[in-house]
Amino acid sequence: MGKSLARNFASKNIRTAVYNLPFKGEENVVADFVAQYSDSNFLSANDLPDFIQKLETPRCILLMIKSGDPVDEMIEKLLPHLDSGDMIIDAGNSLFKDTIRRFEDLKEEEIEFVGMGVSGGEEGALKGPSIMPAGSSFAERRLMPMLEKIAAQADGQPCVRWVGNDGAGHFIKMVHNGIEYADMQLLAEAYAIGKNVHNHSNSQIADELEQWKSTLHNSYLLDITIDILRYKENGESLLEQILDVAGHKGTGLWTVQEALSLGVPVPTIMAALNERILSGHGAREYPPSEGVPEGRGWNFHSNQTPPPVSPSEGGHVALGQCLGLFLLARLIALAEGFDLIKSAAKKYDWQIDMAAVAQLWRGGCIIRSDMLKLVIEAFEKEPDAPHLLATQTISDFIKNEIGDVSAPFGEIAKMGVPLPALSAAMNYYKTLNASYLSINLIQAQRDYFGAHTYRRLDDRDSAFHTEWK
Ligand code: 6PG
Repeated sequence: MGKSLARNFASKNIRTAVYNLPFKGEENVVADFVAQYSDSNFLSANDLPDFIQKLETPRCILLMIKSGDPVDEMIEKLLPHLDSGDMIIDAGNSLFKDTIRRFEDLKEEEIEFVGMGVSGGEEGALKGPSIMPAGSSFAERRLMPMLEKIAAQADGQPCVRWVGNDGAGHFIKMVHNGIEYADMQLLAEAYAIGKNVHNHSNSQIADELEQWKSTLHNSYLLDITIDILRYKENGESLLEQILDVAGHKGTGLWTVQEALSLGVPVPTIMAALNERILSGHGAREYPPSEGVPEGRGWNFHSNQTPPPVSPSEGGHVALGQCLGLFLLARLIALAEGFDLIKSAAKKYDWQIDMAAVAQLWRGGCIIRSDMLKLVIEAFEKEPDAPHLLATQTISDFIKNEIGDVSAPFGEIAKMGVPLPALSAAMNYYKTLNASYLSINLIQAQRDYFGAHTYRRLDDRDSAFHTEWK
């Protein structure tokens, strides 16, 4: 991604010097890169002091390296060569709390530190990523004109916003990734329904998902899912040859950890993370005993996909009829993410414009989608809305365009296919909309065994305790 960003800067006539630490096997990376793109007139350097020497002052150094210790080590290497007013930009997927610490430490050294989320993978970095920078207003004035040139464009605007101070940029990128996990898992569940409920081929599923493109489902992740479903190797679907164990690099985990510690529920995102973890769980190595119902998926004993579900069992629920259901679930994943950003903004004192965040995710990033147009509209009309689902725009959309999804959800849910993210999203939605929850029983149980007290409907401000026996 570093190489792609460098090429992107150079293509916008921003003079760029490049450097890579000469790790074993990477000694020629810079020389080869500079030679390959000689038209870009990159400045290259033999060593770190030479690199720093070549930069105009005040210097602006962008790091695109592994998050964690390597960032601290790199800052330590750079510091002795820097002068007051120089700027370091960390464009990797760093933990926002590390960014807050680095921002404070470097302030003491009079070095500007910018934590900058960048999304879009290598291609996005080259052609136009979505960029989430944060730092001082001085850094903002200096950097934004350059970032606006290299960012993706959507709806006539660059997909970059100065999102706040210290760790805000990396926080928003982290939440972006949490939503990415949920969105990917939901599409995987749509694939599971097509495959395991209807026994459709991957190209049939791709055809069905193609229909979704004319709706707010239209998104980068839907596009790549269709491409993947259609991809063949030696005449066979490559997807079917891929081991069903998913990895993760940690940003989804951070999203869930931070959400839980802030007291923000993100069940759809959490279900997506859990499913990745569960996919690699050792317990999956042990087949259930013969006769134990296995659910509808690959049959453990015969390694066969089950026959399609008959119409009487609910097999008439085609993927097309699940369009609204999945639309709602994807909207809920976004709502969870924005809810988390709102809470974090309060805790960390960031002034975050929600509509601006939705706008910068409209292009260049992995979760770019047409649904974000609706989110922008909702937050533009009600910037201080307590929750995305509580805005008039979204309520009207759900009422008029999605309607009641309980029937298709009920039908699919009984098919035995694991649908963790879809179920989590539906439960979140139902819980938010329930006039009264059975959670009163939890309060009674807590009071029963721990005298934790409860409040009453007829006296909400007092604490009550009952000797239950
Ligand atoms: C992006 C991506 C990118 C990467 C993540 C997720 O916005 O360009 O989110 O940051 O794909 O590292 O990776 P994992 O799925 O491995 O956690």
